[in-house]
Amino acid sequence: MDKIYSLKNFKAVYVVDLSPSLLEVAKERFAARGWNNVHCMLADACTFTIPHESADLITFSYSLSMIPTFHSAIDHVQTMLDKDGVIACVDFGVQSKVTTVGRVDTLGGLQNRHIPWVFRTFWRAWFEADRVFLDPARRDYLEYRFGTLKSLNLSNDTLGKIPYYIWLGCDKDRSPALLHRINALATASPYLAPTDVVSKDEIKHSKGHEAALNQNMPNSKMSIFMLSPGKIQEKMLRF
Ligand SMILES: C[S@@+](CC[C@H](N)C(=O)[O-])C[C@H]1O[C@@H](n2cnc3c(N)ncnc32)[C@H](O)[C@@H]1O
Repeated sequence: MDKIYSLKNFKAVYVVDLSPSLLEVAKERFAARGWNNVHCMLADACTFTIPHESADLITFSYSLSMIPTFHSAIDHVQTMLDKDGVIACVDFGVQSKVTTVGRVDTLGGLQNRHIPWVFRTFWRAWFEADRVFLDPARRDYLEYRFGTLKSLNLSNDTLGKIPYYIWLGCDKDRSPALLHRINALATASPYLAPTDVVSKDEIKHSKGHEAALNQNMPNSKMSIFMLSPGKIQEKMLRF
């Protein structure tokens, strides 16, 4: 990450892990680079505390898939993320079309998201031997708790096409417009919870989004309830 944005720009960085040996290696590396603002914390991701009111950036690097109580870890960091902060996760994981299509409140990108049953089953069994869990629930819960800024479905070509994802999120309340998420349902690089809140009349559509919707959901109907003060309107969208 330091290559993209120098860690020296942060007032403080906290590396949280349950493994003393991993933290020892990390400490040595940070000392060698002179990063005095990076602190190692032997603690549980579900309960750790920081001596600050909130954090501007929270990352999970190949760790969510190893945390058995992942709901608790996600809930915990949500209380720490600054209103304008960003949360990121990179991890192995498999997803299925069946559990993705049709959701309107927990969306991530759909492109390349579906992993065929044989590969889903193989990779899950393979990783479980190392106590790494590739179940979709982890990413689904992130997308439920936060607004998605970016979501990429990828595979590692040098390691037998292991499926992994990169996900960036933010406070869900940054964009009260549910339509932002629906508009981006089928795009390669979804624009789900924009940081700049716009009025309902200005909701952005990309050409990729229009094309993807035409291809993926020619006959589907979607019923959306739009809440406004004092009344509920129902709008029917046809794709
Ligand atoms: C695959 S390693 C990734 C380590 C590091 N984040 C990286 O990207 O190189 C997964 C790590 O998650 C840590 N871990 C598992 N459960 C945890 C928990 N509840 N709280 C904090 N760390 C946890 C393990 O100790 C392990 O070091």
